[in-house]
This record gives sequence, structure tokens and C-alpha cells, in this order.
Amino acid sequence: GKGTGDMKKTVYITRKLPEEAVAPLRESFNVDMWTSEDEPVPRGVLLEKAEEAHALWTMLSEEVDRELLERAKNLEIVSQLAVGYNNIDTEAAKEHGVTVTNTPGVLTETTADLAFTLMLAAARRTGQAERALRAGEWKSWTPMGFTGQDIFGATLGIVGMGRIGEGVARRARGFDMNVLYHNRTRKPEAESMHGFRYAGLDDLLRQSDFVVVLAPLTDETRGMIGERELGLMKETAVLVNAARGGIVDEEALCDALRNGQIWAAGLDVFEEEPIAQDHPLLELPNVTALPHIGSASIETRLAMMKLNAEAIADRLEGRTPDNRVV
Ligand code: DGY
Repeated sequence: GKGTGDMKKTVYITRKLPEEAVAPLRESFNVDMWTSEDEPVPRGVLLEKAEEAHALWTMLSEEVDRELLERAKNLEIVSQLAVGYNNIDTEAAKEHGVTVTNTPGVLTETTADLAFTLMLAAARRTGQAERALRAGEWKSWTPMGFTGQDIFGATLGIVGMGRIGEGVARRARGFDMNVLYHNRTRKPEAESMHGFRYAGLDDLLRQSDFVVVLAPLTDETRGMIGERELGLMKETAVLVNAARGGIVDEEALCDALRNGQIWAAGLDVFEEEPIAQDHPLLELPNVTALPHIGSASIETRLAMMKLNAEAIADRLEGRTPDNRVV
């Protein structure tokens, strides 16, 4: 640290991480870490730490913006514990010569599992049914109680056919689903090898029984699913968002769910996280809501952290790290 005369570079970690994930950095670097696992580092503390740090190991809760990057005179790398990095101003990072890395690949299957979980849970109303059971509302087996939509044999439309989208599509084959996808670029291999079919967004929305959003949040995708798009969907359709809240217009979604324009939604992400307790979405029985747990398996989270630690060590020791986005 400052004034101790030692020449080690400083790594600041914005959340309390398991010691086994951090240990590999301790020998070569000064490791400093926010004290809480649950609460994000306050902005003021982050700015102060960024002024000294050579590396920042960040979560999506941190705004790594131009102001921060301008103050971070020593900074060589921002390594983000996520595949998405919409919280980082990559343009400003590039201008300041700061490398940015993320954690792709290792979280693909885990996140695809969770997206599929949300499809099943929203279609079969499992959250609503469990809440009723726990509230003592289970009086008897009922002929039409908690009846939902079938997944097996239905049409699935994937919006954003990256690694995770393909993972969901592969799972869907086991449920005999008909898979459509929409993406910036076509995926010839997904089409020829697996029989997934490309569709324009409007066609996909009209034809799908399940629409699963797995695109990154960019200027292009912000608000991509709004009132008009929801209006194209079937009244029996289920919308799943396991990507970023900002891609779906929440006000329009609330209206569509309330008015029976679509049937249900399964959401792992929200425009504001954590979502406010009194948010209108949480008052709707046909919403299955999860607190952004897409990549949350023990093995995957530790694998993500390993990628971050390796990238930080590589950059600070003069090697070129993997998984650079800048
Ligand atoms: C990601 O990886 O982008 C998730 O949203 C956070 O783990």
C-alpha cells in the first residue's frame, strides 16, 4: 500500500468474495476488498479506491463510467464478474488504455438451465402454486386449478442467439420444441446442425409460444420488446427475460400481462435491481420473478472468479489476458 515502500500493485475487489477465489492474487499483489457480500460498495468508496488501484474486480452493480476511469490514474484492467458489461463505459476504457475482461463460456450452461427453469416455472405457475400451498390455500385437488401451458412440443423463439441462446435451444430439443431464433447475424451452424430456424423479430413474436430474451443490453436492444412487440405475441405466450431488464419495457409488459395480451412472464432481470418491493410487476400473479440468479451455481461462480483472477494477474504482470472486451 501507499507509503509502505513495497512495489506490489493493488487490486481492488468491489465485493467480498470467497477466499479461495482471491487467494491466488495475494502473493503477488496487494489485495483490498469491500467488506460486504450482500451490499455493493458505495460510489464514494469505489472512486477513492479506484484512484490507487491497478486493477478493479467489479460486479454489475458498479458504474464504471468516464468519471471513474478519469480518476483512476494507475488503472490497467477492469475485470468484471459477469458476461454482460453494460455497466462499463468501454469507449472511455479504451481511451484510457484500460483493459476490460468478462467471464464468457463458463456460465453458458448454468444460465441456460435457469432460463429453461423460468420457462417451465412461468408456464406451469409453480411460484404461484407454491405460494398458495404455503399460505394454507390448498383445500383439495381441483379440476382446473393452477392449469398452465404445455412446454413439450411448443414453439420456442429465442431473441439473441449467442452461446446461452444456443444452450436453451439445445435443451428445447429434448422437449420436442420447434425452435426459432432472432439474432443480429444468422447462425448457419445452428440452422444446419440443429434445425433451429431464423425468423425476423415480428414473425418470431407472432409464432412463438415461448419467447426467451438472451441478448446483451446495448443501444440497439434497449427497449426492443415494447408495447408493439408484446401486441404481436399470442395471448397464451410466455415471455422469459434472463438477459437484462432494459431490453423489455416493463411498463408495457405490466399492461400486457394485466390485460391478458400475453399469458405469463418469467423474469430474472429488471430495469432497476433490486426491483422495488412495491413494483407493479410483483403484484401480478402471472409473473415469476427471481433475483438475477442466472449464473448462480457454486461451480460456475467459482469458475467465473477464476477467469477474473487470471485476467488480472496476466494484465498486471504484462501478459495479454483472455476474454478481453477492450
Ligand atoms: C452476467 O454474467 O452478465 C450475469 O448477468 C451476472 O452474472
